Amino acid sequence: MKHLQSIKDVNITGKKVFLRTDYNVVDDGKIIDEFRIEATLPTIKYLLKHDCKIILASHNGRPEGKVVPSMSLEPVAKALSDLLERPVQFVHDCIGKVAEDAASDLQPGELVLLENLRFHSEEEANDPGFAKQLAHLADYYVDDAFANVHRKHASMVGVPKLLPAAAGLLVEREYDTLMGVLEEPKRPFLAIIAGAKVSTKLDVLNNLLERVDTLVIGGAMANTFLYARGYDMGKSVYEEGLTAQADEVLRAAHKKGVEVILPTDLVVAAKPAEGQRGRVVGLNQVGEHDMALDIGPESVDLINEAINEAKTVFWNGTVGFAELAEFARASKAIAKHIAQSDAKSIIGGGDTASFIDHEHMQRDFDFISTGGGASLELMAGKKLQALELLKG
Ligand code: 3PG
Repeated sequence: MKHLQSIKDVNITGKKVFLRTDYNVVDDGKIIDEFRIEATLPTIKYLLKHDCKIILASHNGRPEGKVVPSMSLEPVAKALSDLLERPVQFVHDCIGKVAEDAASDLQPGELVLLENLRFHSEEEANDPGFAKQLAHLADYYVDDAFANVHRKHASMVGVPKLLPAAAGLLVEREYDTLMGVLEEPKRPFLAIIAGAKVSTKLDVLNNLLERVDTLVIGGAMANTFLYARGYDMGKSVYEEGLTAQADEVLRAAHKKGVEVILPTDLVVAAKPAEGQRGRVVGLNQVGEHDMALDIGPESVDLINEAINEAKTVFWNGTVGFAELAEFARASKAIAKHIAQSDAKSIIGGGDTASFIDHEHMQRDFDFISTGGGASLELMAGKKLQALELLKG
Protein backbone atom coordinates (compact mmCIF):
# COMPACT_ATOMS: atom_id res chain seq x y z
CA MET A 1 0.00 0.00 0.00
CA LYS A 2 1.48 3.36 -1.03
CA HIS A 3 1.20 5.85 1.82
CA LEU A 4 0.45 9.52 1.44
CA GLN A 5 3.17 12.06 2.06
CA SER A 6 2.13 13.56 5.38
CA ILE A 7 3.12 16.73 7.18
CA LYS A 8 5.33 14.56 9.38
CA ASP A 9 7.38 13.54 6.32
CA VAL A 10 8.21 17.06 5.15
CA ASN A 11 9.89 20.12 6.56
CA ILE A 12 6.91 22.31 7.32
CA THR A 13 8.50 24.45 10.03
CA GLY A 14 7.77 28.16 9.65
CA LYS A 15 5.74 27.70 6.44
CA LYS A 16 2.67 29.70 5.48
CA VAL A 17 0.17 26.87 5.05
CA PHE A 18 -3.08 26.77 3.08
CA LEU A 19 -4.89 24.19 5.22
CA ARG A 20 -7.91 22.75 3.40
CA THR A 21 -10.38 21.36 5.92
CA ASP A 22 -13.95 20.09 5.62
CA TYR A 23 -16.06 22.30 7.87
CA ASN A 24 -19.26 21.46 6.02
CA VAL A 25 -20.97 21.59 9.40
CA VAL A 26 -22.95 24.84 9.53
CA ASP A 27 -26.66 24.72 8.90
CA ASP A 28 -28.65 27.92 9.06
CA GLY A 29 -25.91 29.69 10.99
CA LYS A 30 -25.51 26.90 13.58
CA ILE A 31 -22.86 24.23 13.96
CA ILE A 32 -24.56 20.86 13.69
CA ASP A 33 -21.50 18.61 13.81
CA GLU A 34 -18.51 19.35 16.08
CA PHE A 35 -16.91 16.02 15.16
CA ARG A 36 -15.44 17.25 11.87
CA ILE A 37 -14.07 20.39 13.52
CA GLU A 38 -12.46 18.45 16.37
CA ALA A 39 -11.00 15.97 13.90
CA THR A 40 -8.82 18.71 12.39
CA LEU A 41 -7.32 19.85 15.71
CA PRO A 42 -4.33 17.48 15.70
CA THR A 43 -3.15 18.91 12.37
CA ILE A 44 -3.72 22.51 13.43
CA LYS A 45 -1.85 21.92 16.69
CA TYR A 46 1.00 20.18 14.86
CA LEU A 47 1.36 23.12 12.48
CA LEU A 48 1.17 25.65 15.31
CA LYS A 49 3.87 23.74 17.18
CA HIS A 50 6.02 24.03 14.06
CA ASP A 51 5.61 27.82 13.94
CA CYS A 52 3.44 27.78 10.83
CA LYS A 53 1.14 30.57 9.74
CA ILE A 54 -2.18 28.88 9.00
CA ILE A 55 -4.78 29.90 6.44
CA LEU A 56 -7.78 27.62 6.96
CA ALA A 57 -10.18 27.14 4.07
CA SER A 58 -13.34 25.08 3.64
CA HIS A 59 -16.63 24.82 1.84
CA ASN A 60 -20.01 24.66 3.56
CA GLY A 61 -23.31 23.61 2.03
CA ARG A 62 -24.16 24.06 -1.62
CA PRO A 63 -24.56 27.83 -2.14
CA GLU A 64 -24.00 27.43 -5.90
CA GLY A 65 -21.52 30.23 -6.30
CA LYS A 66 -23.54 32.85 -4.43
CA VAL A 67 -22.98 34.50 -1.06
CA VAL A 68 -25.56 32.90 1.23
CA PRO A 69 -25.15 34.36 4.75
CA SER A 70 -26.69 31.32 6.51
CA MET A 71 -23.91 29.21 4.95
CA SER A 72 -21.09 31.44 6.20
CA LEU A 73 -18.22 29.76 8.03
CA GLU A 74 -18.04 32.52 10.65
CA PRO A 75 -19.50 30.32 13.46
CA VAL A 76 -16.64 27.86 12.87
CA ALA A 77 -14.02 30.55 13.58
CA LYS A 78 -15.60 31.10 17.00
CA ALA A 79 -15.84 27.36 17.71
CA LEU A 80 -12.21 26.83 16.68
CA SER A 81 -11.08 29.73 18.79
CA ASP A 82 -12.81 28.17 21.85
CA LEU A 83 -11.33 24.73 21.14
CA LEU A 84 -7.80 26.04 20.55
CA GLU A 85 -7.99 28.74 23.24
CA ARG A 86 -6.50 31.30 20.92
CA PRO A 87 -7.89 33.88 18.48
CA VAL A 88 -8.99 32.65 15.05
CA GLN A 89 -9.56 35.64 12.81
CA PHE A 90 -12.42 35.24 10.34
CA VAL A 91 -11.82 36.63 6.84
CA HIS A 92 -14.94 37.64 4.91
CA ASP A 93 -13.79 36.29 1.55
CA CYS A 94 -11.43 33.54 0.44
CA ILE A 95 -9.76 35.54 -2.35
CA GLY A 96 -9.04 39.20 -3.15
CA LYS A 97 -7.59 41.98 -1.02
CA VAL A 98 -9.13 40.94 2.35
CA ALA A 99 -7.74 37.42 2.01
CA GLU A 100 -4.34 38.62 0.78
CA ASP A 101 -4.01 41.19 3.57
CA ALA A 102 -5.00 38.65 6.22
CA ALA A 103 -2.51 36.13 4.84
CA SER A 104 0.37 38.60 4.65
CA ASP A 105 -0.27 39.94 8.17
CA LEU A 106 -0.03 36.47 9.73
CA GLN A 107 2.71 35.82 12.26
CA PRO A 108 4.10 32.35 13.11
CA GLY A 109 1.64 30.51 15.35
CA GLU A 110 -1.36 32.55 14.14
CA LEU A 111 -4.34 31.36 12.14
CA VAL A 112 -7.19 32.74 10.09
CA LEU A 113 -10.28 31.09 8.60
CA LEU A 114 -11.39 32.14 5.14
CA GLU A 115 -15.06 32.47 4.12
CA ASN A 116 -16.85 29.59 2.36
CA LEU A 117 -14.96 28.65 -0.82
CA ARG A 118 -18.23 27.73 -2.57
CA PHE A 119 -19.41 31.35 -2.46
CA HIS A 120 -17.37 31.42 -5.68
CA SER A 121 -18.64 29.15 -8.46
CA GLU A 122 -15.00 28.77 -9.60
CA GLU A 123 -14.35 26.45 -6.65
CA GLU A 124 -16.61 23.65 -7.90
CA ALA A 125 -15.68 24.40 -11.53
CA ASN A 126 -12.03 23.77 -10.61
CA ASP A 127 -11.15 27.06 -12.27
CA PRO A 128 -7.36 27.40 -12.70
CA GLY A 129 -7.41 31.18 -12.09
CA PHE A 130 -9.25 30.70 -8.81
CA ALA A 131 -6.82 27.97 -7.74
CA LYS A 132 -3.98 30.38 -8.53
CA GLN A 133 -5.48 33.09 -6.33
CA LEU A 134 -5.83 30.62 -3.44
CA ALA A 135 -2.33 29.25 -3.92
CA HIS A 136 -0.97 32.81 -3.97
CA LEU A 137 -1.96 33.18 -0.29
CA ALA A 138 0.47 30.52 0.97
CA ASP A 139 3.67 28.62 0.32
CA TYR A 140 2.52 25.12 1.32
CA TYR A 141 -0.69 23.15 0.80
CA VAL A 142 -1.98 20.75 3.44
CA ASP A 143 -5.09 18.64 2.83
CA ASP A 144 -7.06 17.67 5.92
CA ALA A 145 -10.46 17.73 4.21
CA PHE A 146 -10.99 13.99 4.10
CA ALA A 147 -14.76 14.25 3.73
CA ASN A 148 -14.24 16.15 0.48
CA VAL A 149 -11.46 14.16 -1.18
CA HIS A 150 -13.89 12.73 -3.74
CA ARG A 151 -14.55 16.23 -5.12
CA LYS A 152 -12.38 17.54 -7.95
CA HIS A 153 -12.69 21.16 -6.87
CA ALA A 154 -10.13 23.96 -7.17
CA SER A 155 -9.05 23.88 -3.54
CA MET A 156 -8.80 20.07 -3.60
CA VAL A 157 -7.02 19.33 -6.88
CA GLY A 158 -6.03 22.72 -8.32
CA VAL A 159 -4.05 24.27 -5.45
CA PRO A 160 -1.94 21.16 -4.67
CA LYS A 161 -0.63 21.28 -8.24
CA LEU A 162 0.66 24.80 -7.63
CA LEU A 163 2.23 24.40 -4.18
CA PRO A 164 4.23 21.70 -2.42
CA ALA A 165 1.58 19.49 -0.86
CA ALA A 166 1.15 17.06 2.01
CA ALA A 167 -1.64 15.26 3.81
CA GLY A 168 -2.77 16.47 7.21
CA LEU A 169 -2.93 14.01 10.09
CA LEU A 170 -6.68 13.39 9.63
CA VAL A 171 -6.40 12.60 5.93
CA GLU A 172 -3.39 10.39 6.64
CA ARG A 173 -5.24 8.46 9.37
CA GLU A 174 -8.43 8.07 7.34
CA TYR A 175 -6.50 6.84 4.31
CA ASP A 176 -4.30 4.42 6.25
CA THR A 177 -7.25 3.01 8.19
CA LEU A 178 -9.64 2.55 5.29
CA MET A 179 -7.02 1.28 2.83
CA GLY A 180 -5.57 -0.92 5.57
CA VAL A 181 -8.97 -2.55 6.05
CA LEU A 182 -9.40 -3.02 2.32
CA GLU A 183 -5.96 -4.39 1.64
CA GLU A 184 -4.81 -6.12 4.82
CA PRO A 185 -7.85 -6.89 6.97
CA LYS A 186 -7.64 -9.25 9.92
CA ARG A 187 -9.92 -12.15 9.01
CA PRO A 188 -12.73 -12.98 9.14
CA PHE A 189 -13.64 -9.62 7.61
CA LEU A 190 -17.31 -8.66 7.90
CA ALA A 191 -18.84 -5.71 6.09
CA ILE A 192 -22.30 -4.43 6.95
CA ILE A 193 -23.58 -2.31 4.09
CA ALA A 194 -26.98 -0.74 4.47
CA GLY A 195 -28.81 2.47 3.75
CA ALA A 196 -31.44 3.58 1.33
CA LYS A 197 -30.22 2.82 -2.16
CA VAL A 198 -28.41 -0.02 -3.88
CA SER A 199 -27.64 2.34 -6.76
CA THR A 200 -25.31 4.47 -4.62
CA LYS A 201 -23.55 1.44 -3.12
CA LEU A 202 -23.21 -1.03 -6.00
CA ASP A 203 -19.54 -0.20 -6.59
CA VAL A 204 -18.81 -0.63 -2.88
CA LEU A 205 -20.63 -3.96 -2.77
CA ASN A 206 -18.75 -5.22 -5.79
CA ASN A 207 -15.35 -4.09 -4.51
CA LEU A 208 -15.98 -5.50 -1.04
CA LEU A 209 -16.98 -8.86 -2.50
CA GLU A 210 -13.36 -9.25 -3.59
CA ARG A 211 -12.18 -8.77 -0.03
CA VAL A 212 -14.67 -9.74 2.66
CA ASP A 213 -15.56 -13.10 4.16
CA THR A 214 -19.12 -12.12 5.08
CA LEU A 215 -21.35 -9.38 3.73
CA VAL A 216 -24.48 -8.15 5.48
CA ILE A 217 -26.94 -6.21 3.34
CA GLY A 218 -29.51 -4.24 5.29
CA GLY A 219 -31.68 -1.15 5.25
CA ALA A 220 -33.96 -0.24 2.37
CA MET A 221 -31.19 -1.55 0.10
CA ALA A 222 -31.99 -5.05 1.26
CA ASN A 223 -35.57 -4.61 0.00
CA THR A 224 -34.26 -4.55 -3.57
CA PHE A 225 -32.42 -7.84 -2.97
CA LEU A 226 -35.48 -9.40 -1.36
CA TYR A 227 -37.69 -8.18 -4.21
CA ALA A 228 -35.19 -9.67 -6.68
CA ARG A 229 -35.55 -12.97 -4.83
CA GLY A 230 -39.26 -12.90 -5.46
CA TYR A 231 -40.65 -11.51 -2.19
CA ASP A 232 -43.55 -9.11 -2.34
CA MET A 233 -42.34 -5.94 -0.62
CA GLY A 234 -45.66 -4.08 -0.47
CA LYS A 235 -45.12 -0.32 -0.25
CA SER A 236 -41.47 -0.64 0.82
CA VAL A 237 -38.80 1.44 -0.86
CA TYR A 238 -36.92 -0.64 -3.41
CA GLU A 239 -35.31 -0.11 -6.78
CA GLU A 240 -37.22 -2.15 -9.31
CA GLY A 241 -34.73 -1.42 -12.08
CA LEU A 242 -31.82 -2.88 -10.12
CA THR A 243 -32.99 -6.42 -9.59
CA ALA A 244 -30.58 -7.77 -12.21
CA GLN A 245 -27.63 -6.06 -10.52
CA ALA A 246 -28.77 -7.31 -7.12
CA ASP A 247 -28.94 -10.87 -8.48
CA GLU A 248 -25.49 -10.43 -9.99
CA VAL A 249 -24.04 -9.38 -6.61
CA LEU A 250 -25.52 -12.51 -5.00
CA ARG A 251 -24.21 -14.75 -7.81
CA ALA A 252 -20.73 -13.20 -7.63
CA ALA A 253 -20.69 -13.64 -3.84
CA HIS A 254 -21.62 -17.30 -4.21
CA LYS A 255 -18.83 -17.83 -6.76
CA LYS A 256 -16.26 -16.23 -4.49
CA GLY A 257 -17.42 -18.10 -1.40
CA VAL A 258 -18.54 -14.92 0.36
CA GLU A 259 -21.41 -15.49 2.79
CA VAL A 260 -24.19 -12.93 2.25
CA ILE A 261 -26.59 -12.23 5.09
CA LEU A 262 -29.90 -10.71 4.03
CA PRO A 263 -32.74 -10.00 6.49
CA THR A 264 -34.86 -13.03 7.37
CA ASP A 265 -37.53 -10.96 9.11
CA LEU A 266 -38.64 -7.33 8.94
CA VAL A 267 -40.34 -4.61 10.96
CA VAL A 268 -43.14 -3.07 8.92
CA ALA A 269 -45.53 -0.15 9.38
CA ALA A 270 -47.79 1.96 7.19
CA LYS A 271 -45.27 4.79 6.87
CA PRO A 272 -42.11 6.19 8.44
CA ALA A 273 -43.69 8.66 10.85
CA GLU A 274 -43.67 9.55 14.55
CA GLY A 275 -46.21 7.48 16.49
CA GLN A 276 -46.21 4.53 14.05
CA ARG A 277 -45.89 1.12 15.72
CA GLY A 278 -43.80 -1.45 13.89
CA ARG A 279 -44.85 -5.10 13.44
CA VAL A 280 -42.36 -7.93 13.10
CA VAL A 281 -43.17 -10.09 10.07
CA GLY A 282 -41.61 -12.91 8.08
CA LEU A 283 -40.38 -12.22 4.55
CA ASN A 284 -43.55 -13.53 2.94
CA GLN A 285 -45.87 -11.66 5.28
CA VAL A 286 -45.35 -8.12 4.00
CA GLY A 287 -48.85 -6.80 3.27
CA GLU A 288 -49.69 -4.63 0.26
CA HIS A 289 -49.87 -1.47 2.46
CA ASP A 290 -46.77 -2.31 4.53
CA MET A 291 -43.43 -0.61 4.36
CA ALA A 292 -40.35 -2.43 5.64
CA LEU A 293 -38.70 0.11 7.97
CA ASP A 294 -36.30 -2.02 9.99
CA ILE A 295 -34.93 -5.52 10.11
CA GLY A 296 -36.38 -7.91 12.67
CA PRO A 297 -34.88 -9.57 15.78
CA GLU A 298 -34.06 -12.85 14.02
CA SER A 299 -32.00 -10.93 11.44
CA VAL A 300 -30.23 -9.04 14.22
CA ASP A 301 -29.29 -12.35 15.87
CA LEU A 302 -27.82 -13.60 12.59
CA ILE A 303 -25.76 -10.42 12.19
CA ASN A 304 -24.60 -10.53 15.80
CA GLU A 305 -23.39 -14.09 15.31
CA ALA A 306 -21.35 -12.93 12.33
CA ILE A 307 -19.95 -10.07 14.45
CA ASN A 308 -18.89 -12.62 17.11
CA GLU A 309 -16.84 -14.48 14.49
CA ALA A 310 -15.29 -11.40 12.88
CA LYS A 311 -11.86 -9.89 13.52
CA THR A 312 -12.65 -6.82 11.38
CA VAL A 313 -16.03 -5.12 10.99
CA PHE A 314 -16.69 -2.31 8.53
CA TRP A 315 -20.15 -0.75 8.88
CA ASN A 316 -21.76 1.75 6.54
CA GLY A 317 -25.46 2.56 6.68
CA THR A 318 -28.12 2.07 9.34
CA VAL A 319 -30.19 -1.08 8.85
CA GLY A 320 -33.52 0.65 9.43
CA PHE A 321 -35.17 4.06 9.24
CA ALA A 322 -33.05 5.10 12.22
CA GLU A 323 -34.15 8.76 12.28
CA LEU A 324 -37.21 7.43 14.15
CA ALA A 325 -36.57 5.61 17.46
CA GLU A 326 -39.21 2.99 16.62
CA PHE A 327 -37.20 1.84 13.61
CA ALA A 328 -33.72 2.36 15.08
CA ARG A 329 -33.84 -0.72 17.31
CA ALA A 330 -31.90 -3.09 15.06
CA SER A 331 -29.22 -0.48 14.30
CA LYS A 332 -28.81 0.18 18.03
CA ALA A 333 -28.53 -3.52 18.82
CA ILE A 334 -25.91 -3.99 16.10
CA ALA A 335 -23.96 -0.91 17.22
CA LYS A 336 -23.87 -2.23 20.79
CA HIS A 337 -22.80 -5.67 19.64
CA ILE A 338 -19.95 -4.31 17.50
CA ALA A 339 -18.87 -2.05 20.37
CA GLN A 340 -18.66 -5.03 22.76
CA SER A 341 -16.89 -7.33 20.31
CA ASP A 342 -13.12 -7.79 20.05
CA ALA A 343 -13.16 -7.08 16.31
CA LYS A 344 -11.48 -3.99 14.94
CA SER A 345 -14.47 -1.73 14.20
CA ILE A 346 -14.52 0.85 11.45
CA ILE A 347 -17.54 3.04 10.86
CA GLY A 348 -18.06 4.73 7.48
CA GLY A 349 -19.02 8.39 7.82
CA GLY A 350 -22.25 10.15 6.91
CA ASP A 351 -25.50 8.78 8.35
CA THR A 352 -23.82 5.98 10.29
CA ALA A 353 -21.46 8.42 12.00
CA SER A 354 -24.40 10.73 12.84
CA PHE A 355 -26.31 7.77 14.27
CA ILE A 356 -23.36 6.77 16.48
CA ASP A 357 -23.04 10.40 17.56
CA HIS A 358 -26.76 10.53 18.41
CA GLU A 359 -26.34 7.38 20.51
CA HIS A 360 -23.27 8.90 22.26
CA MET A 361 -21.20 5.89 21.25
CA GLN A 362 -18.27 7.59 19.48
CA ARG A 363 -15.74 6.22 21.94
CA ASP A 364 -16.93 2.64 21.50
CA PHE A 365 -15.43 2.08 18.06
CA ASP A 366 -11.85 1.89 16.82
CA PHE A 367 -12.40 4.36 14.01
CA ILE A 368 -15.22 6.56 12.75
CA SER A 369 -14.63 8.16 9.38
CA THR A 370 -15.45 11.85 8.96
CA GLY A 371 -16.31 11.25 5.30
CA GLY A 372 -19.57 9.73 4.07
CA GLY A 373 -19.26 9.91 0.28
CA ALA A 374 -15.45 10.03 0.45
CA SER A 375 -15.07 6.87 2.52
CA LEU A 376 -17.56 5.04 0.28
CA GLU A 377 -15.65 5.98 -2.88
CA LEU A 378 -12.41 4.84 -1.33
CA MET A 379 -14.01 1.57 -0.21
CA ALA A 380 -15.37 1.19 -3.75
CA GLY A 381 -11.74 1.02 -4.89
CA LYS A 382 -11.79 4.32 -6.77
CA LYS A 383 -8.65 6.38 -7.28
CA LEU A 384 -9.38 9.85 -5.91
CA GLN A 385 -7.39 12.62 -7.55
CA ALA A 386 -7.14 14.73 -4.40
CA LEU A 387 -5.41 11.80 -2.67
CA GLU A 388 -3.32 10.80 -5.67
CA LEU A 389 -1.80 14.29 -5.58
CA LEU A 390 -0.60 13.65 -2.03
CA LYS A 391 1.40 10.54 -2.88
CA GLY A 392 4.59 12.58 -3.32
C1 3PG B 1 -19.65 15.95 2.58
O1 3PG B 1 -20.20 16.43 3.59
O2 3PG B 1 -19.91 14.80 2.15
C2 3PG B 1 -18.59 16.75 1.90
O3 3PG B 1 -18.34 17.92 2.60
C3 3PG B 1 -18.95 17.02 0.46
O4 3PG B 1 -20.06 17.86 0.37
P1 3PG B 1 -20.92 17.87 -0.95
O5 3PG B 1 -21.64 16.56 -1.02
O6 3PG B 1 -21.85 19.05 -0.83
O7 3PG B 1 -19.97 18.02 -2.11
